[in-house]
Amino acid sequence: TEFISAAELASLMNVSVNEVIAACMRMGIFASINQRLDAETIQIVALEFNYEVEFISAEEEVNFDMAEEVDAEEDLQTRAPIVTIMGHVDHGKTSLLDYIRRAKVASGEAGGITQHIGAYSVKIKEGPNKGKSITFLDTPGHEAFTAMRARGAKITDVVIIVISADDSVMPQTREAINHAQNAGVPIVFALNKIDKPNANPDKIREDLAKENILVESWGGKFQEQEVSAKSGIGVDDLLDKVLLEAELLELKANPNRNAVGTVIEASLDKGKGYVSTILVETGTLKVGDIVLAGQYFGRVRAMINDLGTRIKEAGPSIPVQILGLPGAPQAGDKFNVMESEREAREIANKREQLNREMSIRAKKHITLDEIGRRK
Ligand code: GTP
Ligand code: MG
Repeated sequence: TEFISAAELASLMNVSVNEVIAACMRMGIFASINQRLDAETIQIVALEFNYEVEFISAEEEVNFDMAEEVDAEEDLQTRAPIVTIMGHVDHGKTSLLDYIRRAKVASGEAGGITQHIGAYSVKIKEGPNKGKSITFLDTPGHEAFTAMRARGAKITDVVIIVISADDSVMPQTREAINHAQNAGVPIVFALNKIDKPNANPDKIREDLAKENILVESWGGKFQEQEVSAKSGIGVDDLLDKVLLEAELLELKANPNRNAVGTVIEASLDKGKGYVSTILVETGTLKVGDIVLAGQYFGRVRAMINDLGTRIKEAGPSIPVQILGLPGAPQAGDKFNVMESEREAREIANKREQLNREMSIRAKKHITLDEIGRRK
């Protein structure tokens, strides 16, 4: 990989670009002013001018002192799995989520209208898994998933891939399978719309087998469940299977530490100001905590859960909206609770500066490309 150009290297060392080009030439490298140099060349040239070079990736630099605290085994407690529902257009993702959510609100839990916050937590009401929770990420399809993955955020523990039994495996189904497999996330298949007279779930099993995915009922390792998001048939069993996958993962977190998590979405609300939906991964977030997310920091003024209820604390796997950040961080940004505002400000400033530099660098590349194209 090439890093910076001869001209950029010269300016970093405060020497003329001709001197850098001359140094390159002595090594047998004929570099032009805008030519980008590889690591070895940069190192040798820099040495000639008495500079030592340290290569730090942008990501490392941003997270320099955000090293994960390692929790002691005895501090860890089981946490709810975080589940994303994916699948082809119209196969019933939203309907399935709606059914699951309606069942929950109907159970008489607090607070009338369920708010859309992009993520919500569901508690199993009966059966062997009674009392266990699942957190659903209501990310609209692959885009958000891909964006988050590109930014290094791996927050989904299990993926449900919905396939309509009156349609079978489609392009976006394959895409979802690829995404999940590349991310190493276990999949549970929901064979949906089995209430329809023309439903043919065996066609799905057959088509999946053609993709090298053998479902459990055919002797394979992938769990599948026939469901109807309309009538609710099979939904409880589907959730049981999701919980089974989750158990194998032995998901744990330490609720008794400063919270760390990921930003799901953020926007500017006319009445409330900047509102960020975040998911706590470990620790417990509290009202009054100093939160640093991306290049923004602030004290949590209020927290609202997925039922629209104001809460004071949110533990592992709990999604909440927070008020108090002075801007909108990006989906996939990590957040950390900081001990002091000074510390938070320092890192926020560094990140802001780095973001600015990176955007300048990105702009420069565009210019170079354009020049290249004209030739
Ligand atoms: P996109 O968000 O557009 O990708 O679609 P989706 O996967 O969220 O599908 P959605 O839930 O919007 O459902 C598409 C259509 O299928 C709607 O008309 C639903 O009412 C219908 N549908 C979903 N699930 C079922 C089901 O189990 N049975 C029947 N009969 N219809 C269903
Ligand atoms: Mg939908």
